[in-house]
Amino acid sequence: MKVILNGCGLAYEVRGEIGIPLVLIHGFGLNRRFWYEMISSKLDKSHVVLVDVRGHGESDAPKGSYSMSLLAEDVLALLDYLGIKKAIICGHSMGGYISLAFAAAFPERLAGLGLITSRARADSEIQRQNRYALIEKIQRESVAALAASLAPRLTKNAALVEQAYKIIIETPAQGIIGAAYGMAERPDRMDLLCEIKVPSLVVAGEEDQIVSIAEAKHLAEQLPQGIFLPIAAVGHLPMLEQPGTLGDGLLLLKNQVDG
Ligand code: MLT
Repeated sequence: MKVILNGCGLAYEVRGEIGIPLVLIHGFGLNRRFWYEMISSKLDKSHVVLVDVRGHGESDAPKGSYSMSLLAEDVLALLDYLGIKKAIICGHSMGGYISLAFAAAFPERLAGLGLITSRARADSEIQRQNRYALIEKIQRESVAALAASLAPRLTKNAALVEQAYKIIIETPAQGIIGAAYGMAERPDRMDLLCEIKVPSLVVAGEEDQIVSIAEAKHLAEQLPQGIFLPIAAVGHLPMLEQPGTLGDGLLLLKNQVDG
């Protein structure tokens, strides 16, 4: 399904009906298909909302910087459209940055929080400069420049690297550029964490080359109701590398919220 919300065509799908809705937000350069395997293994009856972040998948890719706040407003507009008052907002990596922006702006709509291989800190100056260099490279060349550098850092599993590569190169350049600007400019959210008083799950991959296990553990410790789930032999993509373990973690979070 696709609907125009917040000035942008957003592709989404709704699955299942059990429990409070769980909104899953994918990471940079990816799309909602990344969640399919995990949903069919553990969450096939649960009420789940999947969305393609603007600039990704089948959603539109307007020009401009996509601040994490703008992307959180897209999620809110989708909840309003679907008549959902409160949801568990769960994001992977960049999707986690969007989830934290949602928690900051719309706490009354947040029933639970999931952060999967994500972080609350803003970019360092070096990370920010790297993003601007990436943007210039994509403008000069194509999205293949990102796919070639990002896909091998996501996981050590060669088949999954190839799967991720194919998805990243399908993403429109304008979408990648908009999201990269938005991530570079995102504020630090560490001070927000102590104010998020809903059940929260922080998932880390012990072999993640992008977010260290120590950083994820520290993040979980700042959340009043934080549960930390480190997963062995997993990199940045637990939803593909160990869908069953991640699905169990999300079921635990749902059970905490559903009571
Ligand atoms: C992601 O997987 O969403 C990105 O690696 C996040 C980032 O670049 O900070």
